[in-house]
Amino acid sequence: MCGIFAVVNDTTNQAAQTTLAGLKKLEYRGYDSWGIALIPLGSKTVKLEKHVGKIGQAVTRLPKGSIAIGHTRWATHGGVTDKNAHPHLDCKKQIAVIHNGIVENYQEIKSYLKRRGHVFKSETDTEVIAHLIEEKSKTKPITQAVFETFNSLIGSNAIGILDSKTESIIACRNGSPLVVGVGDNQFFLGSDVPAFLNSTNKVHFLHDGEAVVLNKNGVKLYDVDSGKEKKLDIQSLDWEMEDAEKGGYPHFLLKEIYEQKDTIAKIASLNSFEIIKISQLIRKKNKVVLTGCGSASYCALAGKYFFAQSGIESQVYPANEIMPFLNFIDEKTLFITISQSGETADTLIAAKAAKRNGAIIVAVVNARGSTLERMADIVLQVGAGPEIAVVSTKAFTAQLATLYLLTKAAEEKLDEGEQKIKKLAVELKNWLKPTLIKHLIKVAKSLIDREHIYLIGKHLNYPASLEFALKIKETSYLHAEPFAAGELKHGVITLIQKGTPCFVLASADEAKDEVLSSAAQLKARGGRIIGIAPFVSQEFDEVIKTPELGELTIFPNIIVGQLLGYYLGLGRGADPDKPRNLAKSVTVK
Ligand code: F6R
Repeated sequence: MCGIFAVVNDTTNQAAQTTLAGLKKLEYRGYDSWGIALIPLGSKTVKLEKHVGKIGQAVTRLPKGSIAIGHTRWATHGGVTDKNAHPHLDCKKQIAVIHNGIVENYQEIKSYLKRRGHVFKSETDTEVIAHLIEEKSKTKPITQAVFETFNSLIGSNAIGILDSKTESIIACRNGSPLVVGVGDNQFFLGSDVPAFLNSTNKVHFLHDGEAVVLNKNGVKLYDVDSGKEKKLDIQSLDWEMEDAEKGGYPHFLLKEIYEQKDTIAKIASLNSFEIIKISQLIRKKNKVVLTGCGSASYCALAGKYFFAQSGIESQVYPANEIMPFLNFIDEKTLFITISQSGETADTLIAAKAAKRNGAIIVAVVNARGSTLERMADIVLQVGAGPEIAVVSTKAFTAQLATLYLLTKAAEEKLDEGEQKIKKLAVELKNWLKPTLIKHLIKVAKSLIDREHIYLIGKHLNYPASLEFALKIKETSYLHAEPFAAGELKHGVITLIQKGTPCFVLASADEAKDEVLSSAAQLKARGGRIIGIAPFVSQEFDEVIKTPELGELTIFPNIIVGQLLGYYLGLGRGADPDKPRNLAKSVTVK
């Protein structure tokens, strides 16, 4: 939530343009407003530009300069207005602040600063940071003022400060992501790597409690508490710029949906060492608990079905509902956390609590260098590459494939699992063809003006229908409600009238007959039954055929939901990459 970017010693003296380009790469983190602060060449006063709305094709009118910071906002405190957009300034316009997180004690700090004569221009929690630094820097050097200010903030936060006096950028992290990019003589700061990947792939991921000072002489790393200098840990990432570009696709979402044939294929040869290690722990009778939020929690639920097929009992708790069940998590628990970003606040809180109880933490993550990755005992990197669209697709299927391999390894059938994942990738390649897309566009057109659609699935197709429905809701704002097929007759069937669109997700499995009889119940009430399955049936009015892949049929079944969501969203005027009200990485509770 919220994107932070900064550049120091911009070699072109176009720091504002470089910052704008970086923010465009981070827009998926928040798109309520954006802003840039720059020190113009030869000046000591910060110049600001801020606007409400998406960056899109925006240009900046800021003058030349070699040092700037920028921010794209997902509003928490204070409405979506130009005034509330970041960066925020101190009274003397010498210090500009960008911020990702929530300052829980900002009211208290604000009252103190008002008593000291500071004048506030916004309703945000962030502005107190600029004024508190100003206050402290009256008596101490700027770095110390920033560190002390940061230490007095309560909450999960990442801040970036532009100080015009020393022409430096100071940034601190506690709970919200920050990464430093070290280029040839120019230095960057970002909430995520794609922001500066076109200039450098050499990075240092900041840990909680770390701070950096960037100026034209280079980057220095510090411990925020003690103020002592530390050694940077620079890594070279194997990411290419194309990974963070649309590559000819109209939207990242469509590109990432298509990439799945490759990202899933890659999973078959990733993590085998870690997977075997975890499977041994499972066989040693450790309890398995899976958790995550949103799509990741549906992935966890599908994992529970996979584990059951392998004869292993597991529990699933959505990370945001785990607290009442913490007592059941102990040193015999293998706590499998699933997260694309590795920065989701609710998931981190759950993982920290489980760790305190002595559980072994496994992180199934996609983004690199995340908090979750660092706190985990065992990491399963799913390697889907940067996922830029806010709606999760390729990271979800890569995580699901990883969980599947884990369950096969627990059954001592990892080789068989890997072969099946390879076959799945090949089948997806053959299936994702223009004829399928034409069919999906036709179905999407027929649903564009509907208010509600319903979905049913049974066994593995139940979590698949939860994920399918979420894709439709997120990308098209159409109300899509999923049910376990067996639940219909217990109440929800009242919702079905003549012509109500009902999707039936099915596989050729042990649940097939039962799900078809639920489809018949929907049909008898006049529902329009659209099957998503590898077979035709007289219960379906129409069918979107998926490849027959045994228990892995849920992958293409879910991909139908991703694609339908995309085309429905386009037809209903939504932005496929940036759905309203959402942000990619939910770093607040
Ligand atoms: C759905 C989606 C969200 C995320 C959820 C968890 O398309 O993107 O539901 O799955 O916010 O995010 P991560 O996986 O980053 O922990």
